[in-house]
Amino acid sequence: MYRQVLKILNNKKIYTVEQLATKLSINVNELRAIIKDLVAYGIDLNFSAKDTCQLTESIELLDIDIIKSQINNSSIKLEIFDVIDSTNEYALNRAVIDKPLVCLAEYQTAGRGRQNHHWVSPYASGLCLSIKCNYTSKLDGLSIALAVTVARILYSLGITEIGLKWPNDILWQQRKLAGLLLESRWKKEVVIGIGINVKLSVVDEISQPWVDLDTILEQPPLRNTLAAYLIDNCLSTLLTFPNTGLKPFLNDWHFFDLSYGKLVTLYNNNKYIQGIATGINEQGALQIDNQSYVCGSLQFTNC
Ligand code: BTN
Repeated sequence: MYRQVLKILNNKKIYTVEQLATKLSINVNELRAIIKDLVAYGIDLNFSAKDTCQLTESIELLDIDIIKSQINNSSIKLEIFDVIDSTNEYALNRAVIDKPLVCLAEYQTAGRGRQNHHWVSPYASGLCLSIKCNYTSKLDGLSIALAVTVARILYSLGITEIGLKWPNDILWQQRKLAGLLLESRWKKEVVIGIGINVKLSVVDEISQPWVDLDTILEQPPLRNTLAAYLIDNCLSTLLTFPNTGLKPFLNDWHFFDLSYGKLVTLYNNNKYIQGIATGINEQGALQIDNQSYVCGSLQFTNC
């Protein structure tokens, strides 16, 4: 019902609560509860006149038909949710029958990030996308290949200062623009989760410096177009990676690598490792002072 409410409000006109409830064939109390949720989910509503409601800026809602019409790879099962706990969690719990499962949500109540962080993205302000597919090959390096895939897309949109922090943080001028979370509960399957900030209202809950496409680009892409582009490109990486491994991604990793030659600290297995980062090896392991590391949380170290 959230999107039905927003579809009506999208013309930015002022509606009375009664008018809206009548249009939606629900009672006023139900409508008030929906409006309360929408505000909690980050939608900017104006209630300046008593018992009225107005959307301050129109919103581009995700549209399954538009996305489908812009995807080249038609062999997927695409689902779009209004509100869900986490698209990754949903995908992990679903079986992939014959085609990859792709799901998107306008809002996640329990969006997950790496290292047990929350992924916060107000309603319809970013892309929350998960792709699940059967996967028999080794996953080593896949998250790097996908991070490069997303960075290439953002670069092609004109974001020339896009950079990658190992393993798959996507940053612009040291601020987080996007991130990836790969998860797998069973062998032979993988879920890739991608979060991109498109146009975020002020968000207090994000614990690190962040940025959105709307701040960087004069003309940010439409969310539906970007979703289709991401789906196509990530599927293509998922398809080719088992044969090629990381090789076709290494040059671009190096191009986007923000830590190369810098003093970094890696928090790994309850230890801090400090040294000069020298890129990744062919499996995607981070090289610090010629030692390889496959997991951990990387920070730039100020000298
Ligand atoms: C990171 O910490 O950088 C990874 C963020 C991944 C967020 C995405 S949003 C879609 C998918 N569902 C989730 O719960 N998380 C991922």
